[in-house]
Amino acid sequence: QKVLGRQGDLSGRRVIVTAGGTQEPIDPVRYVGNRSSGKMGYNLATEARDRGAHVILVSGPVALPTPYGVELHQVETAMQMRDAVYNLITDADVLIMSAAVADFRPAHAATQKIKKTGNEVTGQHGKGEFSVHLVPNPDILAELAASLDGGDHAREPHNGIPVPQLKRRLIRVGFAAETEHLIEHARAKLQKKQLDMLVANDVSRSDSGFGTETNKVLIFHANGAMEDLPVMPKTGVAAAIWDRVVPLLG
Ligand code: CTP
Ligand code: CA
Repeated sequence: QKVLGRQGDLSGRRVIVTAGGTQEPIDPVRYVGNRSSGKMGYNLATEARDRGAHVILVSGPVALPTPYGVELHQVETAMQMRDAVYNLITDADVLIMSAAVADFRPAHAATQKIKKTGNEVTGQHGKGEFSVHLVPNPDILAELAASLDGGDHAREPHNGIPVPQLKRRLIRVGFAAETEHLIEHARAKLQKKQLDMLVANDVSRSDSGFGTETNKVLIFHANGAMEDLPVMPKTGVAAAIWDRVVPLLG
């Protein structure tokens, strides 16, 4: 049954979906970004809303309309996304990280626009080059795994950030964007981030991944099972994902 905010297999549940790519500033006009369109995450949010959930969408900058009836939190950087997620997860039932979180950010964001003259470095190929020093961003899902024990109680602060005590067991779902060795990389991520489920897609295919309307995914479960789903519209993939999350909710 699909009635906005009423009946549905997610009714009474609070779910957090992250979507889009983060943007890491180089200066006030430039950033390091990625090709995520946000479509998969926005479809997950819309589908959860239709199934009756209270949906919190933590989104990087995207060119998509805000789904009606969804609580939107807009962020730009990975650090902002991490803060938003930590502030919101306390009483959430599900966290789906479909966002393409930047793995690195510029060590320093210039306060003024960087000019093309006066900032060159002498590079391998000669003069006139410019370089950006990148430092690692925290991995939100990996940090959560490290900070929670089996009962999802917060343990020691991680990287100086105490993870809030969760009120209920939090189902954690990750995505994996790969261009090669999809199965091996996906299994490793499921394990390392101690996820309940991982949705993997080969972003080098033309019918799957960034910007496409369709997706071809493999779903990996915590018990080691793997499902190979056919190419489907992202709306259908979103429904398939929630179909598999619902039985995990106590
Ligand atoms: N993720 C995260 N925080 C990050 C990077 C990734 O929470 N700083 C999440 C993503 O939202 C996704 C999952 O981790 O759900 C896997 O992201 P992916 O980029 O595929 O894997 P990484 O672990 O970052 O490894 P790599 O990019 O090297 O393949
Ligand atoms: Ca990554």
